[in-house]
Amino acid sequence: MKKRIIMILLRSLMQLQQMRPLFASSIILRVCFSVCCCCWFATAIPATKPLGCGKQHILRNSKVVGGNDTYDGEFPWTVSVRRSGQHHCGGVIINRRWVLTAAHCVQNKIVKQYMIRIGEYHLNKPDYHSKDYAVEKIIIHDDYQGVVKVATANNADIALLRTTTDMSLNEYAWPVCFPTDDQSFAGKDAIVVGWGKLTEKSEVYSDKLQKVKISIIENSQCQKWFRLAGRDMLIRENLICAGYRNGGKDACHGDSGGPLLYKMADKWSVIGVVSTGVGCARPLLPGLYSRVSFYKSWIEKHTSKN
Ligand code: ARG
Repeated sequence: MKKRIIMILLRSLMQLQQMRPLFASSIILRVCFSVCCCCWFATAIPATKPLGCGKQHILRNSKVVGGNDTYDGEFPWTVSVRRSGQHHCGGVIINRRWVLTAAHCVQNKIVKQYMIRIGEYHLNKPDYHSKDYAVEKIIIHDDYQGVVKVATANNADIALLRTTTDMSLNEYAWPVCFPTDDQSFAGKDAIVVGWGKLTEKSEVYSDKLQKVKISIIENSQCQKWFRLAGRDMLIRENLICAGYRNGGKDACHGDSGGPLLYKMADKWSVIGVVSTGVGCARPLLPGLYSRVSFYKSWIEKHTSKN
């Protein structure tokens, strides 16, 4: 409809142009003509729709095999939580002001030591779209009991970091979603991302952000495997267990605080926070993650105030 009116306007303007000698000056006509053209352009180009949480801006074909490099911008909610200038843990952007990570990553609560680096891809090379933000506040869950033996892991290993200024969001730095329903995710595949060590014995962190697909194991099943491996422990409902009976794929040191991600209808949600494990990728010993849905109301309570 709008376009038709504009077309009619344009046509009448052209007719007027032909009657030009009748006018003392054509300047007015020219101005009108350009205004019409601009209007037409504005209606022809659809306004870009704002993207919601958990949406990737940069899309590329990229498979997850055994554990491999992500591409730059593939998981834009992933941040590096840096301590004294070095990568210390992973984390995810919740909104402009808040990052979710593991409590054991920030348990000394000395805000001055920490920095959040967003838009990061290469850990050891400057990325032109990465940006650092100072931390203003650390909120550790009240049920966190400090680093305790895996056997007593009832721990709320979850924390929130507030940046001193708003983080600038773009295709390389974007908030993640939260799981909407209370499903257990048992039997589903999820992806864990991080700059952590590539093997248990490695001395260094990975340079490019890595991803690996792992299977979510039902808690009681996971507990049985741990027992078979000689580790008797309770895997409570506040944890998600993910990996394989034969091991081989897992998070490792340096991945802590980073997200376990689940994709639903093209939207990524953080369903777990890398918390602990026995070694890395060992048989019968899958990784343990703080279950985000268990702490969802706690997270929302603190982050909605901004
Ligand atoms: N706590 C470790 C860290 O400092 C991560 C533990 C994850 N381990 C595992 N096997 N999933 O980064």
